[in-house]
Amino acid sequence: MEHNKTPAIYQIYPRSFQDSNGSGTGDLPGITRRLDQIADLGVDAIWLSPIYVSPMIDGGYDIVDHRHIDPMFGTLDDFDAMVAKAHDLGLQVYLDQVLNHTSDQSPWFQDAIAGDEGKADHYLWRDPKPDGSPPNNWLSQFGLPAWHWNHQRRQYYYSQFLPQQPCLNLRCPGVQDAIATQMRGWRDRGVDGFRFDVVTAFLWDEVMKDNPPARPEVQDKVAGENFNPYTYQDHVYDMLPGDGAAYAENLRKWAGDDAYLFGENTSGNQSIELAMAFTQPGRLDAVYTTDLPEGRGSPATIVDMVNRSDTLQRIAGWLSSHDQPRHSRGDASDLVLALQMAFLPGPWIIYQGEDLSLPQPKLAKGDVTDPLDLLYWPDGPGREGARVPVPWTADRTDHHGFTSGMPWLPMAWNGDIVQRGLDMVRPFYRKVIGLRRDHDWAGAQVIACEADGDVLDMTIETQTDQRFRGVFSHGAGQPDNCPDTEPLFRADPDDAQGWFGAIWQV
Ligand code: NOJ
Repeated sequence: MEHNKTPAIYQIYPRSFQDSNGSGTGDLPGITRRLDQIADLGVDAIWLSPIYVSPMIDGGYDIVDHRHIDPMFGTLDDFDAMVAKAHDLGLQVYLDQVLNHTSDQSPWFQDAIAGDEGKADHYLWRDPKPDGSPPNNWLSQFGLPAWHWNHQRRQYYYSQFLPQQPCLNLRCPGVQDAIATQMRGWRDRGVDGFRFDVVTAFLWDEVMKDNPPARPEVQDKVAGENFNPYTYQDHVYDMLPGDGAAYAENLRKWAGDDAYLFGENTSGNQSIELAMAFTQPGRLDAVYTTDLPEGRGSPATIVDMVNRSDTLQRIAGWLSSHDQPRHSRGDASDLVLALQMAFLPGPWIIYQGEDLSLPQPKLAKGDVTDPLDLLYWPDGPGREGARVPVPWTADRTDHHGFTSGMPWLPMAWNGDIVQRGLDMVRPFYRKVIGLRRDHDWAGAQVIACEADGDVLDMTIETQTDQRFRGVFSHGAGQPDNCPDTEPLFRADPDDAQGWFGAIWQV
C-alpha cells in the first residue's frame, strides 16, 4: 500500500495516555480504548513512544529487548488488538526504534562485560589513554562525559545519553542483522512505519578525533540549553553528516519501501541541511528538527526553514513532545499556531494533549524522576512536565479519567482549561486537520514566504494548482495588507490579544 508522505501524526507517550488497570501508568489496552477519539480528530497515524522492555531510567528510551512489550504496557496480544482497532479506524501505526543505544541491562551489554568479545563489538569499547583518562573529549548530549569506565573490561564504553544507555556500534554486522529482524517482526505484526530516535547521531569518526570548540554561531545552534557543556563543542566527529545520512538507506531496506519512516534530528547545527540529506530518495520520508519548537513556530523560524530547505515536504512540523515543554498557553495563541501548523506543508506531529491546549505543568523536585531534569534542577525547562498524564475529563476527583489508581506523576490540571480544551480546542483541531486534508495543504509547495516582525505571510500551491495565502500574526493584530475578501477560514478567538490567523484561496 502506498503510504501518505505527509501524514498528520498523533504522538502518544504511552505511560501517560490512558491507564486501564489502576496501576497509575498508561498501557496498551488504555490506548485501544481511546483510539476512537484520536481517529475522530482526523489524523492519519499514531506514533507510540517506546513500549519495549525497559528499566525506564530514560522514560523507555533505554531498551533491554526491542522485540517484546514491557509488562507495564501489556502483552503482544494487547498490541495486536490495538493495531487491529487502529487499522479498522483508518489509523496507521508507527513505532519508535531506538537503534543508537540499548539499556545497560541488555543481555548484549552484560555479555560484553562478562568477556564475550563478539558482543563487545556490538558497542564502542576503547582502552584508556596511558594516563587512564578517556580516549577523547566527546560529551554526552545530556552534558555528562560520554565515556564511562568499566573495571571488569578495564575499558571505557561510549554513551551519547545516560551512562545506562551504552551506544551501539551500528556498523557491526551482528547489530545490523538484529535490527533488520526486529523491524521485520514489527512489520509482520502490522506496523506501518517507524520513528527513528536520534537518527543523526548514529555514526562517528572511526579515528575518534577530539571535537573542536564551537564557534559562537555554532554554539547558538547546537540543540539544547547553553548551560549544557554539550553546546560548547562543534560535533563534527561524533555526528558524521555524510555517512550518517547514507545509513538511512539501510533503514529503508530493513523497514521496506512501503513503510513510512521519519527520524529525529538532534544536531541543532546544520539541522535543515541534514534533514534534506537524510530524506534523499531511498532514505527516510521525513526528519524533524528542533527549529520549530525552539522558536515556538515564530514567523522568523519558518522563513529561515523555508530558505534553508529544498522543500518543507520532508520536514515534519511539531511544537511539543515528551522532550520539549508544552508550547500551549491555554489561550488564543494556541489556536493561531494550530492553524499555522495545519497550513504548513509537510507532515505534522501533534503531541498528546496539545489538542486540548494543555499548558506546561510545574512539578515539585520530589515528584520528578527524569535524570536529565534532576541534573539541571531547577533550571529547565525539563522534560517530565510534558509527560504528566493527559486528562480525559475536567474532573480532578477521579484523576481526570486517566486512572483509577494513583497517577505516576501528579495531575494538577486546571479543570477550566481542560473543559475549554474539550469543548472548543479539540473541535478546532478537528476542523483545521480536516481543512489540511481536504485542500491538501500538506502536499503543497511554498510559493512565497515572508516574515514582517511578528507576522508570517505565506502562499502555497497544491498539487492540483490551487493557491492559498495564510497570514498569521503572533500578537501584532490583523495586518492591513490582508485580502479584502472573506477568508476560507480564520482563527477567531475571543481572547485574541493581537493573535490572528486566516487563510484565503487566491
Ligand atoms: C530522544 C528521545 O526523544 C529522548 O526522550 C531520549 O532521552 C533520547 N532520544 C535518547 O534516547
